[in-house]
Amino acid sequence: MVSNVNDMLAVNIAGIKMKTPVMTASGTFGFGLEYSDFVDLNQVGAIVVKGTTLAPKAGNSGRRMAETPAGMLNSIGLENPGVEEFIHTIMPRLAKYDVPVIVNISGNTVEEYGQLAARLDKTGVAGLEVNISCPNVKQGGIAFGTCPDSAAQVVREVKAKTTLPVIAKLSPNVTDIALMAKAVEAAGADAISLINTLLGMAIDIHTWRPVLGNIVGGFSGPAVKPVALRMVWQAANAVKVPVIGMGGIMTAADAVEFMLAGASAVAVGTANFVNPYAAVEVAGGIRDYLTERGLNQVSQLVGKVNCG
Ligand SMILES: Cc1cc2nc3c(=O)[nH]c(=O)nc-3n(C[C@H](O)[C@H](O)[C@H](O)COP(=O)(O)O)c2cc1C
Repeated sequence: MVSNVNDMLAVNIAGIKMKTPVMTASGTFGFGLEYSDFVDLNQVGAIVVKGTTLAPKAGNSGRRMAETPAGMLNSIGLENPGVEEFIHTIMPRLAKYDVPVIVNISGNTVEEYGQLAARLDKTGVAGLEVNISCPNVKQGGIAFGTCPDSAAQVVREVKAKTTLPVIAKLSPNVTDIALMAKAVEAAGADAISLINTLLGMAIDIHTWRPVLGNIVGGFSGPAVKPVALRMVWQAANAVKVPVIGMGGIMTAADAVEFMLAGASAVAVGTANFVNPYAAVEVAGGIRDYLTERGLNQVSQLVGKVNCG
């Protein structure tokens, strides 16, 4: 048991050592550097960078974000500068911080996922998050994440091409999340993260047109939390590998719920748009919660929901 107050928030997820269990969710914190003038990046559990592809991607056209009651819709379409720019320009700047950097990777084919994994090996990144769940790209993405066989195929390919810890990011747009979790665990995933966004839509009643240029987009934020929590609980009960929970976490209380449901770490996404300090503040709130309850290590919360 760890009793040092400095260590009470420390977690180790599949070999990735973090000072706090609170990560930033991919696509919501840029490449971290955009926030570095405001937030001490050293205090974030881990930075999961924007979805990265082999070639640079301009993303979707038209309007790409919309606010909805208690949530937001986005259809960014994986805009990113490509893996080479990440390795040569972005990673050297991120390496100056004492924070694990996890790269969220997306491919159009199984082979592309493998190529990305091979390219990112030995570049200083701490792990890979395999995005098989993006609802905003026509090829790849969610197609892999809604079928256990193709999800497993992607994870197997990535595992074969890297020595880095591999986190499989699951889509909520499935019937049986436990089945997906088991499939990627069997394929070798070292950890599982969930949830990515739910598919959603908004319509402008003045123009009778969809609000998003892409018509549909990914729905995230506080409104999705009960769905995410239920899925994290189901997935955590189905697998042995650590689960990283996300979906609507705005406060430390939200994060504690996810950990009680079985998450060993959490990520904040939409919250970063409201409050750039969210990941640091949520971690501080978890520390206060542990102290108030006389607990000395955050792992004491994991999976402790009493459903009896
Ligand atoms: C604007 C935006 C961009 C996102 N881009 C990505 C991405 O590139 N890759 C990915 O795996 N998830 C992406 N996500 C999903 C988030 O990482 C997260 O899984 C989801 O938003 C749920 O968490 P939240 O409710 O805390 O935002 C994106 C979400 C938003 C809002």
